Amino acid sequence: MPIITAPQDFHAEDLFVDLGAVVDRSLYLKCEGFNFAGSVKLKAAAEMIAAAERSGTLTSDSIIVESSSGNLGIALSIIAAHKGYRFICVTDSRCNLTTRRMMEALGSQVHTITEPDVDGGFLAARIAYVRDLVASDPRCLWLNQYHNVNNWKAHYRRTAPSIARNFPGLDVLFVGAGTTGTLMGCARYFRDEGLPVRIVAVDSVGSVTFGGAPGLRMIPGLGTSVRPSLLVESLVDDVVYVEEADTVRSCHRLARNGFLFGGSTGTVVSGALSWLDANAAGRDLTAVVIAPDMGERYLDTVYQENWVRDIYGDDVLAVDLENAGARSND
Ligand SMILES: Cc1ncc(COP(=O)(O)O)c(C=O)c1O
Repeated sequence: MPIITAPQDFHAEDLFVDLGAVVDRSLYLKCEGFNFAGSVKLKAAAEMIAAAERSGTLTSDSIIVESSSGNLGIALSIIAAHKGYRFICVTDSRCNLTTRRMMEALGSQVHTITEPDVDGGFLAARIAYVRDLVASDPRCLWLNQYHNVNNWKAHYRRTAPSIARNFPGLDVLFVGAGTTGTLMGCARYFRDEGLPVRIVAVDSVGSVTFGGAPGLRMIPGLGTSVRPSLLVESLVDDVVYVEEADTVRSCHRLARNGFLFGGSTGTVVSGALSWLDANAAGRDLTAVVIAPDMGERYLDTVYQENWVRDIYGDDVLAVDLENAGARSND
């Protein structure tokens, strides 16, 4: 029975969903959403704060500032509230209302950027705002998740060892790429341990992380409009791109099997299935996909029919419903 005093001390590290019956592949989802922040970002937040405390850059006077599309903001809000730090989250208009309210309920200040960059993304505008804050007040400490090595170290220490421990014969690991903290931590761990696991990054079409052309992306979590400095491409064996329409189909497919996951989980599952389909040995491989969060935060977007129709067109879900029908008649 876990008994905790700090909210960041609980995380269900060893929970995996066997998707075999849903996708007809040896595919397992590592669930990262079962903690007080509801996402994988709690581990990165805890590691970055602990390192800043150890180095003395974070003191009781500090104001933590961070750019986040939501999940890291919630995670930092929780830890800041528990430890008595002030926290300012710089987010943008694609951050959903519940997420903003959660951060505020936890005592954080939220600044929302509403003007996108020329390429349609918000990241550069958010970062420029953070830089201004830091320049204007010496108490402000920017953890900088895109550049902070403690982001990937959290996954090196915790996420990857859990996967290796539970899947000693793992062939492929699919990891969605945002800051690339999860991806880099896992890739470095499997390389350092000498484990022959292929590391496949999954990114959204429209993200520039792996050199793709910038484009409009509506689902937060994965993809960037500025290349993250944490990324070392030589540690990644392959990259798969997923259209957001496929992300939505994939999320709905999982939901109709009782698993309500967040948008980026749909992206990574979709990317994993295309990669396994394209690989001659795909059927014989054991694969793990990292599921960064759960679906409640996406009820007004990915799981809202009108939102989906307005953005991706009328047929996006129709195709999926046909597939679901075919499957249930098997
Ligand atoms: C929902 C979701 N998916 C994926 C990611 C990407 O993780 P990382 O930043 O470690 O690449 C994030 C990061 O915030 C996220 O919130």
